[in-house]
Amino acid sequence: MSHQAALGERLAEQGISRRAFLKFCTALASMMALPPGTATAFAEALVKAMRPSVIWLSFQECTGCTESLTRSDSPALEHLIFDMISLDYHHTLQAASGYGAEKSREDAMKSFFGKYLLLVDGSIPMKEGGAYSTIAGRTNLDLLQEAAKGAAAIIAVGTCASFGGIPNAKPNPTGAVPVSDIIRNKPVINLSGCPPIPVVITGVLAHYLTFGGFPELDSLGRPKSFYGETIHDRCYRRPFFDQGKFARTFDDEGARNGWCLFELGCKGPTTHNACATTKWNGGTSFPIESGHGCLGCSEPNFWDAGSFYSALSMPASPLKLTADAAIAGAAIGVAVSVANRIKKRAAKSAHETATIADLEK
Ligand code: SF4
Ligand code: SF4
Ligand code: F3S
Repeated sequence: MSHQAALGERLAEQGISRRAFLKFCTALASMMALPPGTATAFAEALVKAMRPSVIWLSFQECTGCTESLTRSDSPALEHLIFDMISLDYHHTLQAASGYGAEKSREDAMKSFFGKYLLLVDGSIPMKEGGAYSTIAGRTNLDLLQEAAKGAAAIIAVGTCASFGGIPNAKPNPTGAVPVSDIIRNKPVINLSGCPPIPVVITGVLAHYLTFGGFPELDSLGRPKSFYGETIHDRCYRRPFFDQGKFARTFDDEGARNGWCLFELGCKGPTTHNACATTKWNGGTSFPIESGHGCLGCSEPNFWDAGSFYSALSMPASPLKLTADAAIAGAAIGVAVSVANRIKKRAAKSAHETATIADLEK
């Protein structure tokens, strides 16, 4: 498929129907809390969009970020990322190796200078002149700086690239740093998570292709549409938190009843990510639904932030209630939870109504 082909041609080749594609756009628009009716605009713009060249560099990483994307079992959503872009270099996924692989990267940088997107997973080691991680004899720092020059924008995929992640954890033997510590003259969009949710990557790319830019970012460079709320804000166990009902061990009555995991170390109240709404594996589940607290994997320094199994010490605030105060606040908390869910359902239903009406035109 040439770079000149629009996404629509690619979808047609694969036999993806307009209806299925519209459904995908509806789901994305809903997840990104875009106004009703946007799904159709999304679909129309995406079908015509030219697929941008993408160079994906992998540095100090575990391949989990790439695995997350490629092993997802929801082809309708996550796999569309590979139709939206022309992936010109990704050293784990490409067939080429050695000289041929490096030539693909160089060719893409030259042919699409100023236009390609640079995706990076993994942190960059700075100690010993960058000797801890090299590709084709060149340091990660060197490769990043070179590829960043011609990039239209840079997307840091995963917590390692966004905030340093596990390589940057104490004592940080390689001097690992995130992309944004090195590249300061270009937009860097952080899609944190260890690994990040696949549909977050797809959603951000869809937004770029549709609107020619990225969604609004938070103070840590993450799209607010996916990282604007905490896990705790949208957690289905939240009514138990508000009622002061906590599991104290992983096999007590509270755990069996599905009560809140706060006392078992859940970091949901301080973690911004979309796991509680998008979930994982095609919307099957997320860590808390599987019975384990959130580790806070999309936040800076999550590995060094204390035991995964110690309860957060929460300063007084309306959300950060102690167990006793939570009981008193139960009625308010439940009402807020219900109101939020009704708002979310109404937004989703508005998207669906607009889309189905458009289909019937
Ligand atoms: Fe691996 Fe997590 Fe780093 Fe991704 S963010 S490369 S999954 S350690
Ligand atoms: Fe959910 Fe964790 Fe918040 Fe409890 S503390 S409601 S388990 S996010
Ligand atoms: Fe990570 Fe917490 Fe989600 S550990 S995967 S942000 S529930």
